[in-house]
Amino acid sequence: MSIVIHEKTFTLHTNNSTYMMQVDSYGYLLHLYYGKKAEHAPEYLLVKKDRGFSGNPYDANKDRTYSLDVLPQEFPFDGNGDYRTSSLTIRTKEGIYGCDLRFVKAEIIDNKTKLKGLPSMSENVESLEVTLEDSLLHLEVILSYSVYEDVDIITRSVRIINHGETVTIENIKSANLDFVSGDYDVISFYGRHTMERIPNRQKVNHGIYKISSKRGASSHQYNPALILCDSNTNEMSGNAYSMNFVYSGNFEAMIEADQYGQKRMVMGLSPDYFSYPVEHEDIFYAPEVMMSYSSSGLSRLSQNLHQGMRKYLIHDPMVGIKPILINSWEASYFNFNGESIYQLAKAAKSCDIEMVVMDDGWFGQRESDNAALGDWYVNEGKLGESLASLSSRIHDLGLKFGIWFEPECISEDSDLYRKHPDYALKVPHRKYIRAREQLVLDFSRKEVVDAIFKQVCDILDHASIDYIKWDFNRSISDIYSSTTPQGKVTYDYVLGLYSFLERLIKRYPKLLIEGCSGGGGRFDAGMLYYTPQIWLSDNTDAIDRLSIQYGSSFIYPISTFGSHVSAVPNHQTGRITSLDTRGVVAMSGTFGYELDITKCSDEERKVIKEQVATFKSYASLIHEGLYYRLSDPLHDDIGAYAFINEDEALIFAVRIKNQASRYAYFIKIEGLEDDAYYQDEKGQIYDANILKTQGLPLIVEVGDYQSFTIHLTKIKGEKENGKN
Ligand code: GLA
Repeated sequence: MSIVIHEKTFTLHTNNSTYMMQVDSYGYLLHLYYGKKAEHAPEYLLVKKDRGFSGNPYDANKDRTYSLDVLPQEFPFDGNGDYRTSSLTIRTKEGIYGCDLRFVKAEIIDNKTKLKGLPSMSENVESLEVTLEDSLLHLEVILSYSVYEDVDIITRSVRIINHGETVTIENIKSANLDFVSGDYDVISFYGRHTMERIPNRQKVNHGIYKISSKRGASSHQYNPALILCDSNTNEMSGNAYSMNFVYSGNFEAMIEADQYGQKRMVMGLSPDYFSYPVEHEDIFYAPEVMMSYSSSGLSRLSQNLHQGMRKYLIHDPMVGIKPILINSWEASYFNFNGESIYQLAKAAKSCDIEMVVMDDGWFGQRESDNAALGDWYVNEGKLGESLASLSSRIHDLGLKFGIWFEPECISEDSDLYRKHPDYALKVPHRKYIRAREQLVLDFSRKEVVDAIFKQVCDILDHASIDYIKWDFNRSISDIYSSTTPQGKVTYDYVLGLYSFLERLIKRYPKLLIEGCSGGGGRFDAGMLYYTPQIWLSDNTDAIDRLSIQYGSSFIYPISTFGSHVSAVPNHQTGRITSLDTRGVVAMSGTFGYELDITKCSDEERKVIKEQVATFKSYASLIHEGLYYRLSDPLHDDIGAYAFINEDEALIFAVRIKNQASRYAYFIKIEGLEDDAYYQDEKGQIYDANILKTQGLPLIVEVGDYQSFTIHLTKIKGEKENGKN
């Protein structure tokens, strides 16, 4: 049984973790424990003492030792005397803030309640629903917990059912975790366009540590994910907790250290631009948070998330490994026609590449990035043929075919804008913010979503398209909708986006969608539900990518990293790396190319063909094996990592910085089976215990950016059989 209700104590068990909460005598829901598997409710953790300036609920009468300002809580709300970060702020019609939520009931259900309009992990799983109520406002708050035992993940979400008069939600969080003791570090992931998800680890000090986005998308700047770990936790040991948001818009995540040094970890919607009225008998759904716990370090925590998302979140229309693609963007930008795309496909085919993607520039009057978004009709004049003809010529070569869309945006220089200027988000009588010379469509309005959906379907219905790249190339500003109440716009925008994607995957169940937002500006679990791969970054430089992949790997599965070999000098950094190194780095992802392969030499094409074969032979190990970070490329002179399954291990390493007389790096290969023997492709036999403690020497040559690929196969049978 993964969920146990024992009187007023509710316990959730995964294979290796336990989560406990308890209703106290006043009907408040207190948090008891989250961590390594345990059985007995640790009520002794609830230390009660009279503490100055921490008030006592009326029901506690003269008991001055009971205060919600210091006790660990499941779902803290404004109005109960807790001055720490709140998970719910309600405002009534009269403008009164706060509520008083007391326990009503708890029940175990076989399947999770569907989060209407929102992505979530699989619903076929045992769940706990705890109902709290404010009896004055007639407001029901249902906390929902689902348990994914085999991957040590528990999800949380909240829904609010209003049986009373209209109230406004000014702030709502989906998950709150209180810790009564411990010294912790927080790890978050910051960045910018072309340099996303760089890990930042720091000590949790007094005050509130916060990351957030109010850009309308989860953002390049902060990813909606946090890790809290013991200060001595490393890759292979120590306690670590994560929260990541299954949502793609504005978010806020915080760690607070309170007056007694207790810690609170919180994840949910951002209150910025959010003031959400809930009418009588309406239900508000707050998005899901995935929580995971590992008692054996950060590698294990990441593996839980990788496996959990792959197994329970991501809907993959193409079973198995997805096609190795070549994308036209860095090959020719806007400068292409049907024939040049066909030639790209032909050259790609000779290297065994499986799909060609025609990126931005095939529609409307789109000759540069300042026009035509919103005009989703094929520019046959530019292509020199119809899309149906081009797609069938490409299919005849034996390749799949994909195209680029940016459905959420509109150019001022477009037919759509000339006809429907009100479709764009803009504040009346104010000058608006342009970004990449484009505006954002008001996806909080159904008629706007429907209009674009129709255009996209017209394209997909008239040509055979296997893949689309769904891009979003600016942050949202000028939040005003001509029909949606203003405090609802940013949230309803994301619901509009999700409804579009939901309809798209239902109507075209075989269509593969790659997410993108100027690279990785909306790389989150919400988008991964619809788009099983996301373009990791607009930065294709192999060396920068080591850091971007490193940071992203803490939370997201490697199989989701849109990752391509591009030309040198690299278009973003000017750096020159070898084709081998570019291949090694791009293989840690979906793998593909983004260069003009028609201009490659015969020798380069030969290497590309070999890379394609190499990737195919390792693809299932890379995508399904356990991932181990073996170095930190942001601080070490080498970027190294391993993919390991029961039978084999694949180690990739890239030397980042050269230094005189450095003859070797000793890379400790974590994750190998204890006491086992492994053999490399040259027949050399290694003892796993030695590789884990002393490492594998990588012999370096003069020069930067040398790459290494080591494939080890476990020797079966008795350990003795493996002896030299
Ligand atoms: C974004 C994407 C790129 C490319 C361009 C096209 O920047 O991240 O890969 O598709 O848009 O305009």
